[in-house]
Amino acid sequence: MLTRRQVLTMGGMVGGAILVPKIGGAGPGATAGAAPAAGHDHGVLSGPPVTAATITPFSVQMPVLPVLAPTSTAGGVDAYRMPIQPANVEIIPGLRTDVLSFGGGFVGPTIKARSGRRVQVTYTNQLDGPANVHLHGAHVPPTSDGYPMDLIDPGTTRTYDYPNQQQGTTLWYHDHTHQLEAEHVYRGLRGFYLLEGDDERRLNLPSGSFDVPIMLAEALFDDAGTLVFDFNPNRPTLLANGRPAPYFPVAARKYRFRLLNGATYRVFELTLGDGVPMTQIGSDGGLLPAPLVRTSLVLGPAERAEVVVDFSRFPVGTQLVLADVTGPVLRFDVARSSVDTSTVPARLRPLSALPAATNTREFTLNVDPAQFASVINGRVFDPNRVDATIRRGSTEIWKINNIDTQFNVDHTFHIHLVQFRVLDRDGVPPDPWDAGWKDTVLIRPGTSLRLQATFADYLGRYVFHCHMLEHSSTGMMAQMEIVS
Ligand code: C2O
Ligand code: CU
Ligand code: CU
Repeated sequence: MLTRRQVLTMGGMVGGAILVPKIGGAGPGATAGAAPAAGHDHGVLSGPPVTAATITPFSVQMPVLPVLAPTSTAGGVDAYRMPIQPANVEIIPGLRTDVLSFGGGFVGPTIKARSGRRVQVTYTNQLDGPANVHLHGAHVPPTSDGYPMDLIDPGTTRTYDYPNQQQGTTLWYHDHTHQLEAEHVYRGLRGFYLLEGDDERRLNLPSGSFDVPIMLAEALFDDAGTLVFDFNPNRPTLLANGRPAPYFPVAARKYRFRLLNGATYRVFELTLGDGVPMTQIGSDGGLLPAPLVRTSLVLGPAERAEVVVDFSRFPVGTQLVLADVTGPVLRFDVARSSVDTSTVPARLRPLSALPAATNTREFTLNVDPAQFASVINGRVFDPNRVDATIRRGSTEIWKINNIDTQFNVDHTFHIHLVQFRVLDRDGVPPDPWDAGWKDTVLIRPGTSLRLQATFADYLGRYVFHCHMLEHSSTGMMAQMEIVS
């Protein structure tokens, strides 16, 4: 019987390596065919195969991500500036690694926004090639959505407008350059955007330094510390906030952790210590109606889970490992006692009733070895083709099928512009943690789900795609046009 790891690798071979020829003309084992944006060292393997650098787990501290300061807060708008630039950073202790960055770090700085208050971010592209920025999970006009063909040319500047007319939630921003999104995000073009709702402020959840965003990712390094991007996603190193399996000192009290699977391909299956409970309070679209006690969490690429962990029942000196099935992600070290006046209320945010749907559609996802591509309804993405024309304000039910049983390939389905709700999976109502507002859903091979979305209120073209970015960048993407 195949192990899970072998199955994933095989899925990667089907979903990635053998698909590269059609897109870029490179052979298996080479990097993506289109030129990556960084000018110099791309970690292309020209000679001997990579051996992963030996990294001792828990040898570095997990950084708390920096919060970006606005350049202006005048006129009801928080304005920010952010360069998109190459950087050379320490990821593996003692080694330097070339990355692509928002503002110089391997994980971009966190933007903190408030529901109802506008944000504008001015990006300057200092890379040698095009890039752009998508605010994942946000309700934004099409010109600020980071449409895959709407790029920021090298040496130019572009301001994106984020109205923030939506409920508070943990959003994130990342590159969305057509066919290069997987490599760009893998190399570092990703960061958090925390949108806080007024309702959330009143709940007295753990806040300030006890509210910690954690970006999960995966990587493959060679012995020199070079970040290797290969469409066969054999990526043994797990990262938390850009460092390999770090430790994080915590006080013996409650923390709110915003877990984001920022990996392009890996599905994280997380447990804490020996089945220590994590109280899930939120998912992609924000707070759930009520807290849920979980002892494991499955996060597909781009999915988020907000959990509260109470360390007060552990003596100082206790170490608790947050682990994926393939290895440790992060160790929490209970380092000091603390007072804690935060709470996790029994009621968080009510789920509104759904309007009646007036249309249904069906989308089938699969990797297609015959076409050397990843497809939706049998076709690769074509920016000149509209796959779904949708009336503004209308409510639709979409059935999404993952038919990749032969090679056991997962997909994560994501729609721009909207937050949606899962109606059922293979006809079965969703689990409570799957029943809140979502923008990305993991769909296991051979299964289907039905989701419902209301397409208000911007007009224009937006994409929907698999968020395993090796799949979207090889074709598993389509577009909708919202019309009046
Ligand atoms: Cu995070 Cu088009 O996606
Ligand atoms: Cu998105
Ligand atoms: Cu996929």
